[in-house]
Amino acid sequence: MEIRNLTEKFYDKFGKGQEKPALFFSPGRVNLIGEHTDYNGGYVFPCALNYGTYLLIRKIKENKIRFSTLNFNEDDETELKNPFTRQENKWINYPLGVINEFLKKDTKLSGLEMLYYGDVPNGAGLSSSASIEMVTAVAINDLFGAGLNILEMVKMSQRAENQFVGMNCGIMDQFAVGHGKKDHAIFLNCDTLEFENVPLILNGYSLIITNTNKRRGLTDSKYNERRGECEKAVELLQKYKPLRNLSQLSVEEIPVLEKFIKDPVVVRRAKHVISENGRVLEAVKVLKKNDIVRFGELMNLSHYSLKDDYEVTGKELDTLVYEGRKLRGVIGTRMTGAGFGGCTVSIVKKDDTAAFIDQLSKAYTKITGLVPDFYMPEVGNGARRL
Ligand code: GLA
Repeated sequence: MEIRNLTEKFYDKFGKGQEKPALFFSPGRVNLIGEHTDYNGGYVFPCALNYGTYLLIRKIKENKIRFSTLNFNEDDETELKNPFTRQENKWINYPLGVINEFLKKDTKLSGLEMLYYGDVPNGAGLSSSASIEMVTAVAINDLFGAGLNILEMVKMSQRAENQFVGMNCGIMDQFAVGHGKKDHAIFLNCDTLEFENVPLILNGYSLIITNTNKRRGLTDSKYNERRGECEKAVELLQKYKPLRNLSQLSVEEIPVLEKFIKDPVVVRRAKHVISENGRVLEAVKVLKKNDIVRFGELMNLSHYSLKDDYEVTGKELDTLVYEGRKLRGVIGTRMTGAGFGGCTVSIVKKDDTAAFIDQLSKAYTKITGLVPDFYMPEVGNGARRL
């Protein structure tokens, strides 16, 4: 979508009016490794994409907020209120939740007209929601001079999602789309929020994202179930030593789990989190040494752990990974995001990408009956005014 076309669509929806709208963008993200560790105070290693959400926005005199999106036919309008309340099953809960956070900080708002357009697929594990939240946050912050920094907006967006939308996510997605840096991945400690932008130099390899296109099912309830199992593990492990979260345990301590936790399922959940943290630490180290091959192996191991210990994959993701791994030039492939559906991320030799897409597409459709989508993203910057 061209920016000029976007402005024309804005005028089609809202009329030309007095003021020109301002344009903002927030990326989506793909997580390279470190899955289901963020809400356990662990390490993650995501990067921001050049795909994301565009927002055209302008102030108006009326005390109304008008929402429009080019992604589906669901325009909406609400009176300016303080506070807003959650609406049943509506996409505007994402921006409304963020706007509410600004109201809590006493930002004086006026009426608004807002047009969203996203080119990350919705609900596919590439953080379309965090992208909508953060683009709203940077726009409101800029338009009303709220003076907040990116980290404050990241936290507000996470709160909006947890408390307003009602999805109990960790901080990775909002953090990644807020702090993205071109050609860098973000090595984040989710406990302290210390982070480092690590150059993502893939020397002759490409990142490929494959969407299972599986309809979103029980992701949110299963996600909360996993969170609960991790909390249970922390509670039981207090007898071993005082712990705030599972990430305070090292890989060497994995054998201890069985002594303190009777339920083998809970043991496996904890094992995934602890071993995944170990894999992230090694992945960052080997990437800095340009050892892409070992990085790919760690991605593969991460998938096994998510499949066998954390059990968040499923037939579609596993098929993409297993069939993908058989193909030439593939050095690592794994599910990314919450799981159960959504996308995989793979590192594939540049010369082999066309064959990868063609062969994987055929194999996947034969086994699952679904047609996958492929994206070859660039790693981009974080949420900003354009
Ligand atoms: C979703 C959540 C994140 C994170 C991932 C799993 O994307 O929003 O906070 O927990 O799942 O790593």
